[in-house]
Amino acid sequence: MLILPNKVTIIEVGPRDGLQNEKNFVPTEIKKQFIRGLRSAGLTEMELTSFVSPKWVPQMGDGAEIIADCLDPNTRNFVLAPNRKGIERVYMSECKAVAVFVGVSNSFNLKNVNKTTRDSMEELRPIISELKQKDYFVRACISTAFYCPYEGKIAEKDTIQLCREFVEAGVDELSVADTIGMAAPSESYSLFTKLRVEFPEILLTAHFHDTRKLALANILASLQAGIDRFDTSAGGLGGCPFAPGASGNVATEDVVFMLERMGITTGVDLNKLMNAIEIIRPQLSRTIDSGYYRLHTQTV
Ligand code: HMG
Ligand code: MG
Repeated sequence: MLILPNKVTIIEVGPRDGLQNEKNFVPTEIKKQFIRGLRSAGLTEMELTSFVSPKWVPQMGDGAEIIADCLDPNTRNFVLAPNRKGIERVYMSECKAVAVFVGVSNSFNLKNVNKTTRDSMEELRPIISELKQKDYFVRACISTAFYCPYEGKIAEKDTIQLCREFVEAGVDELSVADTIGMAAPSESYSLFTKLRVEFPEILLTAHFHDTRKLALANILASLQAGIDRFDTSAGGLGGCPFAPGASGNVATEDVVFMLERMGITTGVDLNKLMNAIEIIRPQLSRTIDSGYYRLHTQTV
């Protein structure tokens, strides 16, 4: 028998993961309207932007302005920060929720942040402790938790060990990512079951890219493993510029549609979500091909 939660929390990553890989710079004003549109659709927890090098990811170069104008003090809005410089930028802002990110795969981490996984952890451990002393909410994004574009299959025990290090460092949440959309539902079920058992107190979130259209199957498998938090991206936008094969995140609208059809509450208004997508769509270099969006545009 399927035992599933009554309610799921969606963490919208469209303004960050969704846009970071877009070729053409999306005007800052449009990004702000997009964020407001997503919020009015009921997407409260959200990654707004990242404080990374504008030379590495030019699309996120307006992060400070986004945070200054778009923070909602009543909900958890994240900024991503990979290093001390990023954290100093957080301290100069009003943002109180930070997402740090590290790859289980050393090769990926080197490509992504120019550091080994070990060196990233050495840098982040004292930063996390400092953030917690200052009462920040800290989320750790675990990249290449299943597969790496450079190293192939990642051992489950290595992912669990990195999660353990983050939990010991004091994070509030683990967001465990299938960066290149390779995980099989059986692998998601296995990993999330073990993580749920080992870290019963931690907020545990699954982050699926839909490269091979397996994300919804992975979400169902993760639900069965006790996961009730999912990172998703409006329109299925997204991908990491340093992970070849990391196409879009699973589309928020497809996840919301599936969950609501299963009687699981998400708090997201699909019509308002479609309006938010229409704000960003003309700026994109790609077409939106989520199932829900395609049918919606054919019928309105
Ligand atoms: P580096 O070149 O080794 O850094 O890059 P550095 O310390 O030598 O500094 C180089 C320059 O960058 C300096 O500026 C620094 O000030 C500046 P310059 O003196 O040349 O003018 N700099 C910064 N500027 C702004 N904010 C900062 C920052 N740090 C240094 N935080 C660095 C290292 C980490 C900066 C670089 O590799 C970088 O920015 N990488 C970005 C990686 C990224 O954003 N990846 C995508 C997000 S992760 C992801 O998508 C995966 C996820 O979705 C989960 C999943 O799906 O797997 C989360
Ligand atoms: Mg991602």
